[in-house]
Parts: sequence; C-alpha cells; structure tokens
Amino acid sequence: MSRILITSALPYINGVKHLGNMVGSMLPADVYARFQRARGHEVLCICATDEHGTPAELAALEAGQDVATYCAEQHQIQKDIGVRFGFSWDYFGRSSSPENRELTQHFCEKLDEAGLIEERVDEQVYSVDDGRFLPDRYIVGTCPKCGYENARGDQCENCTSVLDPVDLIDARSAISGGVNLEVRASRHLYLLQSKMVDRLRAWIDSKTDWPVLVTSIARKWLDEGLHDRCITRDLDWGIPVSRPGFENKVFYVWFDAPIEYIGATREWADEAPGSRDWKSWWYGEAAQDVRYVQFMGKDNVPFHSIGFPTTLLGSGEPWKVVDYIKGFNWLTYYGGKFSTSQKRGVFMDQALEILPADYWRYYLMANAPEGSDASFTWEHFAGTINKDLADVLGNFVNRTLRFTKSKFGEAVPDGGMPGAAEANLIKELDARLEAYTQHFERMEFRKAVAELRAIWASGNEYLTVAEPWAKFKQDRDAAAIGVRTGINLIRLFALLSQPVIPTISGKMLEALGVSGDDAAWPTGPAAALLEALKPGHPFTVPDVLVQKIEDAQVAEWTARFGGA
Ligand code: MF3
Ligand code: ZN
Repeated sequence: MSRILITSALPYINGVKHLGNMVGSMLPADVYARFQRARGHEVLCICATDEHGTPAELAALEAGQDVATYCAEQHQIQKDIGVRFGFSWDYFGRSSSPENRELTQHFCEKLDEAGLIEERVDEQVYSVDDGRFLPDRYIVGTCPKCGYENARGDQCENCTSVLDPVDLIDARSAISGGVNLEVRASRHLYLLQSKMVDRLRAWIDSKTDWPVLVTSIARKWLDEGLHDRCITRDLDWGIPVSRPGFENKVFYVWFDAPIEYIGATREWADEAPGSRDWKSWWYGEAAQDVRYVQFMGKDNVPFHSIGFPTTLLGSGEPWKVVDYIKGFNWLTYYGGKFSTSQKRGVFMDQALEILPADYWRYYLMANAPEGSDASFTWEHFAGTINKDLADVLGNFVNRTLRFTKSKFGEAVPDGGMPGAAEANLIKELDARLEAYTQHFERMEFRKAVAELRAIWASGNEYLTVAEPWAKFKQDRDAAAIGVRTGINLIRLFALLSQPVIPTISGKMLEALGVSGDDAAWPTGPAAALLEALKPGHPFTVPDVLVQKIEDAQVAEWTARFGGA
C-alpha cells in the first residue's frame, strides 16, 4: 500500500465551469483517485477554488456583489456541483483561506532569504477616474499585435499574445471605461526565476516517464529563457504582502494559487484537529513515500512544471514536488471553442440538469483529449451512451437478472459445470483485466475505458454463446451455469466500473448485495472471480440502469446549446 497525493488544477471562482474545463482536471483526478482507493492505496485528493486576481474582482463587480461575498457563494456552488458529479475530494478548499495566506507569505519570506526575490520599480497604468492602478484584466484596449479591439491587459484573447497593460493602444478602464490614464511608478516584488533555470532543467530532464505534451511545454519555456516574474499586484483583493511599502498590494494570483494545494491540505487537517497530518503529505522525510500526481489542461502546464516548482525548490525547504504531471489537450465543441460569452457548449450545472453524472463521466473519459484535441458533438455523445452504456452494459445487467428471476427465483442458481464457453471467457478476461489495470496505472484514460467496454462486450459475447434463455427448456443445468456466470460478470463489471461510473456501479452492487470489503478491486484469476457469488446468493432486479437518449432530445439540446 502506498500513499498517493492527487490534485487537479484549481477552478477559477468566476462562475460554473464547462465540460471542457472539467475533462482535463477534476474528472480524471477523481477517476484516478477512485481507482487507487479501490486498489487499497491511501489517497488524498485535494482541490479548491482559485479565488484571487482580477477575474474574481471583475465577476463580482458584474454580479453586483462585494468580492468576498461573491467568492463565498460561488465556492459553495462549485463545491455542490462537484459533489453531484461524483467528485470524491477529500477536501475542496479556498485559496482565500487563512491557511493559504500564511503559507504564501511564508514562501515569499523563504524565497527572499534564498536570494530569489528582488524589489523593482515598474511602470503601471493608473486610472485617474477610478483612483487606482489597473493591472491585468482591469484594462482593455486594442492589441498591438493583431489589432483586436477588446484585448485585455494581460493577454489578447484573439491572437493569444501575452501582453503588458502599458502596450495596449487606446486603452480604457474595464471598470469605468475611463480613458484618463497615466503611467505611474509602482514598487513590486520579482521572483528571480532566471536563477533557477539550470535546476529546473535538470529536474525536468529526470522526468523521463512524463507525457511529451508536458515535457515539451516545460522545455519550450526553459529554452525561450525564463523571465523573472512579477509576483505582486496593485489590488485590494488577494493575499497581503507583509513588507514595508507594500501596504496596498497583494500577491499575484498565479503565485498563491498553486500554494493552495498545500493550503487546502492544511484546511483539511484543521477541520479535524489532532487526527490529520497535513505535513506528512508535503514536507520532509515523512512525505518521501508519497507519490504526487497533478491533473491539468495544457494551458496550465507552464505554471505547474516551472512556476510552482520554482517556489517549492527555491524555498530551500524540503517540500514535496510533483512526481507526475498528467496534461490534457482541449475538448472542443463541434470543433470550436466552448465559450461562456457566446453561450456555446455545456456547463457543469446544465449537464446535470439534463442527464445523470455517470453519462457524462463515461463519455468524457472514453473521449478524453489525451493524444490530441477531442470534439464533443451531441450525435457522438448520444451514440456512445446508447451503444456502450445502455446496450452493452445496462441491457446486460437488466436482462440477465430479469431472466434469472423469472426462471430460477431471486438467488444465484446451482447446477451445471463450467465448460468451453466459460474457459474462453476466462482466458479473454485474464488478459483484459491485466491491460485495464495497466492503462489506469499509466493514466491512459481513453485506453482504460476502451478496455472496460471490451470487458463488458466479452460478457455479451459469452451470453450469446451460452444462451441460457434457449437452453433452459431442455437443459436446466446448462442454463444455470450461464446465468450464474452472468451474475458474477455483473459483479465483476460493477467493481471494475466504479472509478468511471460510480453511481451505476453502486446500483449494480446494491442489486447483488455486495458491499464493504467485498467491493474491493477484483484481483486474481478470472476463474475465481466468476465464482465469487455462490449458489443461493440473493439478488434483486434493479430498474432500467441506463436510459437511452432519444433523437428528439438530441435535437432539443442542439437547439439549446448550439450545434454544428
Ligand atoms: N484557475 C486556473 C485555471 O483555471 C488554474 C489554477 S491551478 C493552480 O486556469 F494550481 F494554480 F491553482
Ligand atoms: Zn491580438
């Protein structure tokens, strides 16, 4: 048994996330956490809302709320939706917590002691009308690179160039629209990343098993020369900088957000004083046996492969750094961007309004954007659910149990001996079970789900050959071994499917009266697994496990959410 620390990129506080955000972060983190827990490992799965920075302030402004109230409300909303999606977080924290404030200030002090912090005086845009500085997204104007008129101070959405607010043409305040702007000097803290390049390169070079998507992004940043990074901002909302001359400043959101992985672990410990040891997951000797895995979309890779490791390694203290980064490409919506402003695509709350979480979990993991981008379409989604979940899995469960009940009663029947059909099934399962586990260990989610589907399909093929419905009249024992194997397959499918579709799996296990230790990950030879439920073991027939999606629903959702 080992200890596995799992984090996923922290969702921004500014509104409910869409499926494209979730598929590369919170969902695979949960699937992996459930898999490793089922395997008997000690897992700590941590997430939180990322609450600072200009996006949070601007969203609060738009909602007409003060930013603290806005964040508290949105945190609760995101947490509830995550729980309804089945996310089995050990803790879902807030980057605005006192724990994170203390840690962020601590890291800044340690980095300073290590000679990695420097004060510099910068030119910043100041709005006379608003009486304040306008960092990052507080300023909009025309992009100097592509001419797009609504570029934000930190980045142009149109051409993705990273910008400096002072470079915008015809700049105006995003708060008041005011154009009465000046450039004023302001003192800031810089993290001297350039001093860390050699250490970071050696560290990245040692990660020979990481996905190429991740190492290539990290190397590109190192090769292009790491710039020293300004880690403070002229804002009110954020973590205060405890240093003379920095009274009206806070840390930059990208400095404190990843530290919240540790912060949230402390929040988790503080929730149950005396019984949880956050440090043993993060610090020193005690954390040496921890394997730390992070999940994120590719846009987040630089901050996790370079930014956060700079903070941790640069501190000079023995903090745990990530052991494996699982990065994802984009999920597109009909080949285009999911877009909040254009109302294109599906958001997590809307998804749950129309279908149970497991339908989404299954489809999104089966089509995870791993090797390349993946495209969501309603047609593909409905086809996958109807074929895989409803026909191959759901129908197998319902018809096997219904038939058994009608002919043998509500218990596993005795009689009959395994023969050639069972031997073939066992051989196939032995190979597939091994492959399935391996794909999960390697976090190859598409492959894992394809294997899971193939395992379900092997059950269907078996029943086609065993034909208990046809054999029952002439040969009761031949039918009995068929359904006994079938019911044991249901148990096996349920156990294997738990990480991906926990609710459906739960219903299957409930129908079979399997719980507790009996619901552990299936190991050992398939022959034994197919005899786990003995003759006489009672069961019930569940309601239809998976409802098919109708053409009319596809038409309705395409009209509501946008389509091709
Ligand atoms: N909120 C960021 C995003 O959605 C991710 C932050 S990850 C963290 O892109 F580690 F920095 F918190
Ligand atoms: Zn541009």
